[in-house]
Amino acid sequence: MDSVFVRPAQWPIVTSSELWSQAEADRYDGEENEMSSAAVLGPTVGFLAELAGDGRALEFAIGTGRVGVPLRERGVPVAGIEFSEHMVAVLRRKTDEATLPVVIGDMATATVPGEFALVYLVYNTISNLLTQDEQVECFRNAARHLRPGGRFVIELGVPPLRLLPPGQAAVPFDVSAEHLGFDTFDLVEQILVSHHLTRDGEDGRYRRDASRHRYAWPAELDLMARIAGLAPERRVADWDGSPFTQDSAKHISVWRKPA
Ligand SMILES: C[S@@+](CC[C@H](N)C(=O)[O-])C[C@H]1O[C@@H](n2cnc3c(N)ncnc32)[C@H](O)[C@@H]1O
Repeated sequence: MDSVFVRPAQWPIVTSSELWSQAEADRYDGEENEMSSAAVLGPTVGFLAELAGDGRALEFAIGTGRVGVPLRERGVPVAGIEFSEHMVAVLRRKTDEATLPVVIGDMATATVPGEFALVYLVYNTISNLLTQDEQVECFRNAARHLRPGGRFVIELGVPPLRLLPPGQAAVPFDVSAEHLGFDTFDLVEQILVSHHLTRDGEDGRYRRDASRHRYAWPAELDLMARIAGLAPERRVADWDGSPFTQDSAKHISVWRKPA
């Protein structure tokens, strides 16, 4: 297994993903209370553990190990690929390299030795790849790592375009005293920018952050999967297996590599 903090010279950094900073890594676990709660992680880990069975799992963009660490604790051997060394440094406060190995690299191109029963990419993170080509490469990379019959799982929001009337520039998704969040859209390039104003400390000041995402419809992902040689198996609205409908705000999709 490659050492965590060595980026092999033969990997050119070609990804369009923004690099998550030290400050973002330090804040990540603290601010993601709901996504790190037992109510969210219980069903998430249960769903993934069932698909992994007695095989190994690979998390693309493993971050601080929000999902990978509890899945490993559940008994599934987990490895990760992650672009930000800062995020992996936070993961390393929870578990060591022997228990949960991570390769620093781009999930569209980096490789991890061995075959996996499950590759998964959660929390909207395919959208961090800002071009269609890179998203297709990410599907291809998932397929390369899967054993025959193995599954690729993605968790992704449905593009919230039904909320954007003609002539309106932004769609708010959170309005509270602590946080103002809204999305703006480039409908030609399929780019969504999430803007956040978050109260930072007691003096009433707000911190401003923004992240860029390439949104894609479930049907476009199905086509990417087909290009990568994967077949659709299941699409649900959430980790509890609830049905995906025309009103679902997100989906969990499962594609399978032919046995
Ligand atoms: C929203 S976080 C998700 C982290 C983790 N999967 C989770 O569910 O908590 C997005 C992560 O994707 C990573 N990332 C973004 N683009 C990437 C890429 N091209 N290759 C690998 N990791 C990437 C970021 O560094 C960050 O850690």
